[in-house]
Amino acid sequence: MKLAVVGGGSTYTPELIDGFARLRDTLPIEELVLVDPAADRLELVGGLARRIFAKQGHPGTITTTSDIDAGVADADAVLLQLRVGGQAARNQDETWPLECGCVGQETTGAGGLAKALRTVPVVLDIAERVRRTNPNAWIIDFTNPVGIVTRALLTEGHKAVGLCNVAIGFQRKFARLLDVAPSEVHLDHVGLNHLTWELGARLGGPQGEDMLPKLLTEHLDAVADDLHMPREVVTRLGVVPSYYLRYYYQHDAVVRELKTKPSRASEVAAMEKKLLEMYGDPKLDEKPELLAKRGGAFYSEAAVDLAASLLGSGGSPYQVVNTFNKGTLPFLADDAVIEVQATVDHKGATPLPVKQLDPMFAGLVAHTTAYEDLALKAALDGSRDAVFKALLAHPLVGQIEYAQRLTDELIAHNREHLPWA
Ligand code: G6P
Ligand code: MN
Repeated sequence: MKLAVVGGGSTYTPELIDGFARLRDTLPIEELVLVDPAADRLELVGGLARRIFAKQGHPGTITTTSDIDAGVADADAVLLQLRVGGQAARNQDETWPLECGCVGQETTGAGGLAKALRTVPVVLDIAERVRRTNPNAWIIDFTNPVGIVTRALLTEGHKAVGLCNVAIGFQRKFARLLDVAPSEVHLDHVGLNHLTWELGARLGGPQGEDMLPKLLTEHLDAVADDLHMPREVVTRLGVVPSYYLRYYYQHDAVVRELKTKPSRASEVAAMEKKLLEMYGDPKLDEKPELLAKRGGAFYSEAAVDLAASLLGSGGSPYQVVNTFNKGTLPFLADDAVIEVQATVDHKGATPLPVKQLDPMFAGLVAHTTAYEDLALKAALDGSRDAVFKALLAHPLVGQIEYAQRLTDELIAHNREHLPWA
């Protein structure tokens, strides 16, 4: 089995390698290729990756290349984890929207739109190269904004599934609180990528007993702990929103807060500098503690599970993924991309049925899906007019004055990545 990781020079990659090494019985990789345009990072990350494999006795080979076509050639699965423009572009996404009183975030609001516009054409080009070398290869997309990027891939007919670690994070946390194995916990996880709620947490299977009421009664503090939202809201809703809902439910407070502190991109850039120094140490042969300060916890385990199911080597029977709606949420178009629990096999992901969504959640999901539709059109059409429409349709923008200003700012800050601008 051959896997390629595009964006393999990311400082996150050792998290992935650690999962590949630990879970090699589930996903028996023979050949792993890290692909990245940054040759210096590749060398550092590739070196550590090989040492992690060696230490854990993984028999697979790891190679590195900056040549995308050579890297993905004949791969069975290609993981996309790239960031067009790097942390510098992310820093912009997190900064200029704040000046207009809008949230500055890499996947939500106007910053998220900027990221989608930069990313979709690049990802589609890579996917086309993958398809040319192996039409049967699976694409696993971690690249944000995952909902829009996955929709782009699926709409173009690629064999793709979108993945995020928010759900697996909740699964692991609930399992710990309930003192059961993570695989025992099945989430009623519903919504769009980075716009989801846990409506239930079932034991033993998707129809198992719902333990969420117990979790909210006995472990409210722990459950609400890293959501950064008032815990009474969690009790009142009776469901657990992901921490990304904060950008909606507490938009103005978040804007005020973000204005007072350095951007996440600048924090991450400082961490990356340290991490790369550490990766250069030939004695380091495991993922360093510092990596836990990044947001990607458990993403390697989610990736192993998904790749194993798609490639027929094992994997959990049910996984939370991003895929076409196809009637799952009846108020959305079939070709909207949703994030829900699904069965996954060599033919791809099939969402499990979802119970009728309360208007409290359905409204925001429908509204944001309309934005994602227009965001994808803007990424494909490449026009000022399309950007303006996507922003006007965004639940966090929605006013002509803001949409106009944000359109100007977005284009001004992203010209080098937008050939049409
Ligand atoms: C979570 C999200 C990812 C996001 C990451 C950011 O893992 O699910 O989509 O990329 O956080 O983490 P960072 O450490 O880069 O802020
Ligand atoms: Mn994510």
